[in-house]
Amino acid sequence: MTDAIRPLIAGNWKMNGLKAAAAEFDAMLNGAAEVAGKADLLVCPPATLIAAFADKAHGKKVAVGAQDCHPKASGAHTGDIAAEMLADAGATAIIVGHSERRADHGESDALIRQKAEAVWRAGAVAIVCIGETQAQRDAGQTLDIVRGQLNGSLPDGSTAANLVVAYEPVWAIGTGLTPTSEDVEQIHGFIRELLTSRFKADGVAMRILYGGSVKPSNAAELMAVKNVNGALVGGASLKAADFLAIAKGCP
Ligand code: 13P
Repeated sequence: MTDAIRPLIAGNWKMNGLKAAAAEFDAMLNGAAEVAGKADLLVCPPATLIAAFADKAHGKKVAVGAQDCHPKASGAHTGDIAAEMLADAGATAIIVGHSERRADHGESDALIRQKAEAVWRAGAVAIVCIGETQAQRDAGQTLDIVRGQLNGSLPDGSTAANLVVAYEPVWAIGTGLTPTSEDVEQIHGFIRELLTSRFKADGVAMRILYGGSVKPSNAAELMAVKNVNGALVGGASLKAADFLAIAKGCP
């Protein structure tokens, strides 16, 4: 049944991209129709570029998203951006709980859950990231960490339409290392069991993305793994050719 889930290839540009990056985004828009049969495409540029990219993407086959939001809709929170503001700029999905935010900003599961609810309040889709560190993996804690983060970060009311899970082992991010297909199958299968037991039919249909050093050369193998419903791509999403090649690798 999960085989029927349409893959999502999401690019997380992180803190990369000036106005001149619009040319690369144009190349993604131009190539998108060719891969539209394979996967939905989403690009999450830095917040400064969302409005301009969303204007360009209007009516095209690439959606525009954001990388984080504040849980509140407005208020005295200098430097923060509300989900409503991101949606107003054109973001239709917002990543929350990325491991870089968990590490750099000490974000807790409880805060991430609030952020996911803020994303819904703004009418967007929450992409909630989870994943173990190298030390946790070495200690044999991977499944415990995944279970704890899922339980703590996903709000009640999560559905296949309003929430996407991204499993990103921290040790695989930006390192060129990836888990084996067997490891990915085991962990995604475990995530699917937990989602199904908590969210029933929605858990069966919810997308589970893999993230961490996805590139054109390994995308087809990773995307073919059971319960992998797309990818959250960092570095390789900055180049249109690589990003589109990853989407082409979807089964
Ligand atoms: P890389 O693809 O650069 O490893 O980054 C993965 C990631 O963190 C996406 O959110």
